[in-house]
Amino acid sequence: MEKILIIGANGFLGRRLLYRFQDEFDVYGADLITTGIHEKYHPNYIDITKKTVVHDLINNIKPNLTILTAAMTDVDACEDFPEKARKINTDGPLFVAEALKEIGGRMIHISTDFIFDGEKGDYNEKDIPKPISIYGKTKLEGENNVLKQKIPTLICRTSVLFGWPEVDQRHNFFSWAYENLSQNKELKIISGQITTPTLVDDLVEFLYQNSNFTQTEIYHTCGCESISRFDFILKLIRNFNFDENLLKEVDFFPQKAKRPNNSSLNTSKIQKLGKYKFRNINQSFQYLKAKSKNSK
Ligand SMILES: NC(=O)c1ccc[n+]([C@@H]2O[C@H](COP(=O)([O-])OP(=O)(O)OC[C@H]3O[C@@H](n4cnc5c(N)ncnc54)[C@H](OP(=O)(O)O)[C@@H]3O)[C@@H](O)[C@H]2O)c1
Repeated sequence: MEKILIIGANGFLGRRLLYRFQDEFDVYGADLITTGIHEKYHPNYIDITKKTVVHDLINNIKPNLTILTAAMTDVDACEDFPEKARKINTDGPLFVAEALKEIGGRMIHISTDFIFDGEKGDYNEKDIPKPISIYGKTKLEGENNVLKQKIPTLICRTSVLFGWPEVDQRHNFFSWAYENLSQNKELKIISGQITTPTLVDDLVEFLYQNSNFTQTEIYHTCGCESISRFDFILKLIRNFNFDENLLKEVDFFPQKAKRPNNSSLNTSKIQKLGKYKFRNINQSFQYLKAKSKNSK
């Protein structure tokens, strides 16, 4: 049985990867805080900004496959703490890839649509990235650091991950809106900011189905529908029968980091693989509606 190491295993995507891969892999989970990682996934402390810690752990486990989900994901906080963002999002992936090169492991690195400036939209894998935020810049440098190691790698760029978080996890855009709407609170949502939101379970399934790779590829692994933040919430309201009057469109919303206007990703390349189809927004909401809030 192959060993898989999930780094960032306590996070939103990371925990779901632990559950999905357990049938066919010996699963190891690592994060800064390991309290949310079940014993059966061999919880391990890791700080990806510490080269020795990363090398020691990877040398001990010797994983065949490593998925790096750990990142500084708070886009605004990255503007406030650019050095911290650089260490986590740029140095961290380098240390992981270097250590995997030594033991001959392959790697999936999770990246973001925010490496693009958002002037064009519908970005494919050959488009030239041009980040406009510290988060985007540091994540792009992280990608490049991984690619330079020339180990078998999938760079998987995704966008606005959504689904039900577990009770001890932070809200995502969907669950935050759902929670507020459930309490009849008004939502002010910015017009514009077009992305390709991604049901987290679809990304997990894609990664699982494509985990047996031998070559390096960049993939845009996101939902198949590009949509504005506002229209996403409107669809949420309609699918879950909330009151549409709670939704207000605003032109400006104070945010520290610049957001791309249209960072939607083109998914033709993964669609050609034919292995897994990402759901559209309505299908995703119906899936979440059918799934109980705290199920795994
Ligand atoms: N969420 C999205 O909408 C989205 C969109 C596009 C791309 N992505 C990418 O997808 C990946 C997964 O996102 P996610 O939503 O699952 O993120 P998440 O929930 O924030 O999980 C990331 C995990 O990494 C941990 N971490 C942070 N710094 C670390 C360090 N120095 N060493 C080890 N672990 C560290 C975090 O711990 P703390 O919580 O304690 O910091 C957290 O448990 C990220 O690479 C992100 O850039 C996400």
